[in-house]
Amino acid sequence: MSAERTLSIIKPNAVKKRLIGKIEERLVQAKLDIIAMKMVHLTKEQAEGFYAEHQGKPFFDGLVRFMTSGPVVVQVLTGENAICRYREVMGATDLAKALAGTLRYDFADSITENAVHGSDSPQSAEREIAYFFADDEIFD
Ligand code: PPS
Repeated sequence: MSAERTLSIIKPNAVKKRLIGKIEERLVQAKLDIIAMKMVHLTKEQAEGFYAEHQGKPFFDGLVRFMTSGPVVVQVLTGENAICRYREVMGATDLAKALAGTLRYDFADSITENAVHGSDSPQSAEREIAYFFADDEIFD
């Protein structure tokens, strides 16, 4: 199988708790390589656009408030089966369902403040990567 790309976000609660380094170590262990990276403080419009598919859901406003509450680290990761592999490394969206040893089990504070985001399909990965990075900001 050829290498895939996925978008990762280290969310505001994890940045605030100085967990960037610990999360990067897990990426190395999982053989996920970083090919683009930036720190950004999302505007309300950027967060709403990124999570547009969830507009209208009961958690949407809280999610946007949280994602704009502080800086995040946005990265493009690559590796064999990167989308699935990173989701395994992250663990379930809901902290209560995340397996031991996953990022969310170790670092999430709640279902909203769940430390990390990863694309859930090749289509989302393509959209999400283009949302944050121009082609010449990605070093493959
Ligand atoms: S769902 O239920 O299918 O819409 O959930 P999912 O596609 O896995 O992702 C939902 C994203 O919204 C964040 N979020 C919540 N999800 C469910 N319930 C509550 N209360 C909630 N609050 C926030 C969740 O962390 C997912 O964010 P990302 O960044 O995509 O992982």
